[in-house]
Amino acid sequence: MAATEDLFTPIHKGLRSMLYSLSTRLQTNDFADAASTQALVTDLENDFAVARSAGCTLCVLAHHATDEEDVIFGPVAKAGGSLVTTLISEHHDLTRREVEIARAAHDLISTTSATSRVAAGVRLNQAANELFAAYVAHMNREETELVPLMQGQFTDAEMVAMRGAIMARMPPDRLFAILGWMLPSLNVSELSELLTSVAKTAPPPLLKAITELGAAKVDPARWRAVKLRTGL
Ligand SMILES: [Fe+2]
Ligand SMILES: [Fe+2]
Repeated sequence: MAATEDLFTPIHKGLRSMLYSLSTRLQTNDFADAASTQALVTDLENDFAVARSAGCTLCVLAHHATDEEDVIFGPVAKAGGSLVTTLISEHHDLTRREVEIARAAHDLISTTSATSRVAAGVRLNQAANELFAAYVAHMNREETELVPLMQGQFTDAEMVAMRGAIMARMPPDRLFAILGWMLPSLNVSELSELLTSVAKTAPPPLLKAITELGAAKVDPARWRAVKLRTGL
């Protein structure tokens, strides 16, 4: 039977929601207001250069690419194909953009003139839009080209093991930051399948923490439908 696992689309849905949300904040922020600008920049690139472990947007994007390269791209590349080479070179381009944005954001919050901050805010919006456009196109390529390629190369069990390896190496704060974007971004069927799958293998405290997060973050009507379907 052909494999059907998709390691990319659910997490990418979460990342898209994260990008859309940040994009909305970026384009409505008053860069003359130092306090709101500081809060925005913190959520954008908090500790990017230092810890790279919190839930900040640029950290999550950078870690996502690293997880793919370390756990997934190696086995895919062994079976041949130039797609992985292309995707890794896109990762390098995305990283370069992320580092530039982090640097620009740091410069922006150390700027004392409100007028200069507003001008820098326009440039930050433009750079972020370019990153987000490139990131969304990259995710689309992984979903439309890599997912079918992997379904031809691996069994569902092998792909589930890769997902498990990625989740196991994530620090809990990052895992829950990502789930906090991912769970409310999934439809009823995807959420039900995910929770049923997690319930089979996760220790009860982890399952409880994930269902509590879902109850807090997912649209209430959708969450009720998921509970009805899964019995969780
Ligand atoms: Fe990627
Ligand atoms: Fe990806």
